[in-house]
Amino acid sequence: MRTLAILGSTGSIGQSTLEVVKRHPDKLRVVALAAGKNKDKFLEQCRAFGPEFISLETEEDIQWILNSLEYRPDFSFGKEGLLRCVEDTPINTVVSAIVGASGLRSTEAALRKGHRVCLANKESLVVGGTIILDALRKGQGELLPIDSEHAALHQLLRGKESSSIRSIRLTASGGPFREWPLDRIKKATVTEAMNHPTWKMGPKITIDSATLMNKGLEVIEASHLFSLSAEQIGVTIHPQSHVHAMIEMHDGTFQMQASVNDMRLPIQYALLYPHQIQTPAPPFTWDQSRTWDFHPPDEKRFPCLRLAYQSLQSGQSASIILNAANEVSVSAFLAGEITFGLISECNESMLNKIPLQKPHNLDHVLEIDAAVRTDTKQWIEAHR
Ligand SMILES: NC(=O)c1ccc[n+]([C@@H]2O[C@H](COP(=O)([O-])OP(=O)(O)OC[C@H]3O[C@@H](n4cnc5c(N)ncnc54)[C@H](OP(=O)(O)O)[C@@H]3O)[C@@H](O)[C@H]2O)c1
Repeated sequence: MRTLAILGSTGSIGQSTLEVVKRHPDKLRVVALAAGKNKDKFLEQCRAFGPEFISLETEEDIQWILNSLEYRPDFSFGKEGLLRCVEDTPINTVVSAIVGASGLRSTEAALRKGHRVCLANKESLVVGGTIILDALRKGQGELLPIDSEHAALHQLLRGKESSSIRSIRLTASGGPFREWPLDRIKKATVTEAMNHPTWKMGPKITIDSATLMNKGLEVIEASHLFSLSAEQIGVTIHPQSHVHAMIEMHDGTFQMQASVNDMRLPIQYALLYPHQIQTPAPPFTWDQSRTWDFHPPDEKRFPCLRLAYQSLQSGQSASIILNAANEVSVSAFLAGEITFGLISECNESMLNKIPLQKPHNLDHVLEIDAAVRTDTKQWIEAHR
């Protein structure tokens, strides 16, 4: 039985995870739930799954939940609540599905404890890098990706000698602006940027998909997960989002992994690995004609992808800088403070301006992250 803590249960990945849990009550049990501010959705989830431990961002919200619930779970709130979910509860599996670097400490703590961590929160691996991998080594747990591309790679690479792999390739839908004229993209509205053609996701990753920053973060994530250099990781635009990833062997052959685009598939893969059994996702149908397109990404259209490669080649602190700048610029765009075009300009300016320094522990990572956020807010203030 997998006993679960789901961090970010009210989000897009959190809700899909709970649908998978519902499908397999004999294999998966919710023990702890944590989320941010959406207390109505959280209350619904507590009533449906009866977690023994719960946490929300504020004490006031968690008190409201306790007063509304028909039973009395153990509880906490804020950063401590996230840590207690993974450290003080009888679980063996954590779904890390908070958005942004605020998932870093709990992801690291879960790995140190030796749990299986099903990782949606790619930002924690992007900024934590070797510190996260150290926690995995020391705790002797497991790190299984939930990102569909990385779950595909995990399947493709299973049982293969690393010496037989020449390169890997992540696919990207290209987002809503794949064919827009460049000058129009710069002025895209929030509604236009949120209109993702193939996936329904939370706001931050949806904007990251429109800039292709998401694919850039995934390149960095893949480099850590599979111990590959930037030169070994390629990106291909595939608007249908059915092929999730490819590997190229040294003999020149390719292998691809494909499925319907439904996040419940990679979530269930990570939860129930190594077993691949029926999921709540609909089957892929072959009774209609299909065309799959593949294109190289256009660097002018998607400068954030180039920035991610630059940061991967420059070392850990460059990834921390790029991620923090991006979290702040995306949130400023969503709040209507800057134009879409300024997201990549802001990220590039921070990446090239802030001096690089090797982070020596988790506190140092968070210190660099906080300093970059302050600088980025000043940049935004000057450009809004
Ligand atoms: N959505 C996808 O299909 C998808 C695919 C691959 C990877 N991912 C990755 O998965 C992660 C989550 O994405 P998402 O689309 O599910 O995002 P989302 O819908 O915005 O959900 C984010 C979740 O995190 C919670 N949260 C945010 N800040 C928190 C904090 N400080 N403390 C506690 N909880 C906090 C939110 O709580 P409230 O809503 O209650 O405030 C919510 O439950 C991201 O790293 C994303 O890149 C997502």
